[in-house]
Amino acid sequence: MSAEKVSTSEKTAIGIAHSKLILIGEHAVVHGQPAIAIPFPLIGVETMIEYVPGAVKLDSAFYYGPLHLAPKSLHGIANCIKGTLDYLEIPAQDLVIRINSSIPPGKGLGSSASVAISVIRSLFNYADRECTEEELLQLANIAETYAHGSPSGIDTLTITADTPIWFEKNQPITKIEIQEDFHFIVADSGQDADTKSAVASVTSLLKKAPRKIQRKIDRIGQLTHDAKGALEKASKHFLGQLLNEAQKELEFLGVSDAVLNRLIQFARSEGALGAKLTGGGNGGCIIALAQNEVHSKQLAEKLKKFGAQSVWPFVLKKQD
Ligand code: MEV
Repeated sequence: MSAEKVSTSEKTAIGIAHSKLILIGEHAVVHGQPAIAIPFPLIGVETMIEYVPGAVKLDSAFYYGPLHLAPKSLHGIANCIKGTLDYLEIPAQDLVIRINSSIPPGKGLGSSASVAISVIRSLFNYADRECTEEELLQLANIAETYAHGSPSGIDTLTITADTPIWFEKNQPITKIEIQEDFHFIVADSGQDADTKSAVASVTSLLKKAPRKIQRKIDRIGQLTHDAKGALEKASKHFLGQLLNEAQKELEFLGVSDAVLNRLIQFARSEGALGAKLTGGGNGGCIIALAQNEVHSKQLAEKLKKFGAQSVWPFVLKKQD
């Protein structure tokens, strides 16, 4: 065996990615309005590539086996892997791709984009290649297009960012400067969300009643502009009101459901300054703005007792 082959067979490589949250602007962002997204580093994905002779295999919580036999739910990531291997001119053989994720899938927390990004990063590391932002986004969008149908691109961009971002489709993202710590809680309704069908349902509503629905989308856009100002000026109470108003519009668009609404109402009744769904909706998670750190912990406990499946209190920190 040549020295080169020995070193190849021992080769492993890792790629990581964190999760993301949409603070405000989901759905409207697909139709040209801005959205504000926040990196959510409490949960994430680590992918490890190992040299193992044979067909390319996937090893994940949902499936272990050859890549080409992966179930339908993994076709997006399987296509993304094939696209990345082709792009890097790595032969599609002798690899095991081990995906370890703490992001619950189907909850609007960017699981599909985070998995794609960690996999792409690991394959670039395996090939000893640096990955540019552009390459990362283009390759991740193979999986995202599969997962969301017609994604705005917000999930992939936020996952590669480490600050809150202002996002508009086909525009460069900009950073939002935060003047004070904001304490949020994310709570999982326990219901699976299907972002693809939620996006498709809003698009079909827009076709059926263009003027009425466009007004709602424009309104969410306006609330998002105001929310940027509230974040920059540390206006917690105002931000809370804006989140509540955005929720009203999302309900009108038909992407909230009874379980999300119950959690949102409960969070508000327990003193949240504002609460709304986050991500695609119709299942998935809510985001609530707490009054301060102590309140955030108390509210997290209460939401858990009320029936939220998982609860994550976290701080959006003021930049130094
Ligand atoms: C999903 O996280 C956010 C949506 O606006 C879809 C998208 O922007 O691709 C619902």
